[in-house]
Amino acid sequence: MALKVINEGKEILTDPCHFFELNKFCSDQGVDLTFEWIQGQYWLHSDRPKELPIGIEVDATLKRHEEFFKKSSLQKELLARAVGVKGAHRPTVVDLTAGLLGDALLLLSFGCEVIAVERNPVIRFLIQSALLNSTHPKLKKFQFIEGSALSVLETSPPSQVAYFDPMFEDTNDKASPRKEMRIFRQLLGQDTDASEVFSKLKNLPFKRLVVKRPRHSISLGQHPDVEYIGKSTRYDVYFSHQND
Ligand SMILES: C[S@@+](CC[C@H](N)C(=O)[O-])C[C@H]1O[C@@H](n2cnc3c(N)ncnc32)[C@H](O)[C@@H]1O
Repeated sequence: MALKVINEGKEILTDPCHFFELNKFCSDQGVDLTFEWIQGQYWLHSDRPKELPIGIEVDATLKRHEEFFKKSSLQKELLARAVGVKGAHRPTVVDLTAGLLGDALLLLSFGCEVIAVERNPVIRFLIQSALLNSTHPKLKKFQFIEGSALSVLETSPPSQVAYFDPMFEDTNDKASPRKEMRIFRQLLGQDTDASEVFSKLKNLPFKRLVVKRPRHSISLGQHPDVEYIGKSTRYDVYFSHQND
């Protein structure tokens, strides 16, 4: 099982320190991974040769969101409502499941301060590489932490809002998953500890905990205080009852 790194069409020798974690991931998981250096950052090759590699275009995504929200109200965004964006209020959100930063960049573009956490070494590598290749001013409000949600929360003070979007077995999803999700599922499998993490998060002093679920899935654990239901996604919101 091997790690391959390509630059300008040729395989290159890799610095064992820089790629230590990825080499270990390949041998531990029994997978072959190919990364390619394109326009200032690393991209992960798809398992299907005709597909473009996956990575994160941080600056371009933030600019696209900025343009979109010049014309569209934030209040139309279920995620904005779920985390409590209202009037001038912009909560600090700790995104415990960063993935390819889709939601984190959306939260940043709402004007929230975002602390994103990711535990998988392949995804972490893509995030770090993309961040080093980004200069958007909104990133001043962004922090990335490598590690598992619970270990990070043990050492960092809790923020106003915790956001949790684990990988799930979607029994209702008849459609083929999009490329990123298919590769995620191959690489990461399911986040089988999601219920356990959720139970621990519930006992931490966040003002609100927001859990992203497929629209028709059962909630993690218990019935939420509020649900925001979209076409395919649902945000389950739990308020802190610690001072009730
Ligand atoms: C469904 S994806 C998140 C997608 C992300 N919200 C986005 O918009 O791109 C789940 C990600 O969370 C990570 N993850 C799951 N459980 C975690 C945990 N307990 N701590 C840290 N990362 C976790 C997985 O490795 C995976 O990259």
